[in-house]
Amino acid sequence: MSARFITLEGIDGAGKSTHLSFIAEWLAQRGIETVFTREPGGTPAGERLREMLLARESHLSLDTETLMMFASRQQLVADVIRPALEAGKWVVSDRFTDATFAYQGGGRGVPEARIAVLEEWVQQGLQPDLTLLLDVPQAVAGARMAASRELDRFEVEKADFHQRVRETYLDRAARYPRFHVLDATRDIPAIQHEIGAALSRLAGVS
Ligand code: TMP
Repeated sequence: MSARFITLEGIDGAGKSTHLSFIAEWLAQRGIETVFTREPGGTPAGERLREMLLARESHLSLDTETLMMFASRQQLVADVIRPALEAGKWVVSDRFTDATFAYQGGGRGVPEARIAVLEEWVQQGLQPDLTLLLDVPQAVAGARMAASRELDRFEVEKADFHQRVRETYLDRAARYPRFHVLDATRDIPAIQHEIGAALSRLAGVS
């Protein structure tokens, strides 16, 4: 079975972690060798960039923030994603470039065309085969987050920021067929049933 590249996206509080464990189990049960990674991060340099990007005390200009996301991504593509795919493994990334379009683009206002330049520079045509978008209204995600832990530099943004991030994700999902939008307000088994079906299609098994 040939290599596949899957990304998982959604606004903060959409429930990615829960579903990542399910995806890991699903792939392991079928003997599909998979590399799991995350963005920003996933390499030693990327994890250091992540710390700076998420720390509430970091004062980053918008362009610096955007370039750091792509610096982390470049290292990840070169050191982890391409080698894994070339070795025939599957790759699952907790976020990828759609997050930059959604957060830095939709959320903060970086023009889409500027992000697209960096996307081409760093990815040179590499795109996910499947992007699972966990979609929830901002109010639902916000309530989940408030209940959980200390918030990072993105999570502390106001509701209208997260609303714009969500709308940008949905807009991209309508444009690119690689997206599979999941209504993440439903109960966990219902969502996971649908994720399993999407993975089966991708794997070419039923
Ligand atoms: P996480 O909490 O899902 O691990 O993601 C870290 C945060 O980084 C999350 O709030 C979204 C944000 N982010 C961006 O703003 N741009 C990006 O390109 C990526 C990958 C993440």
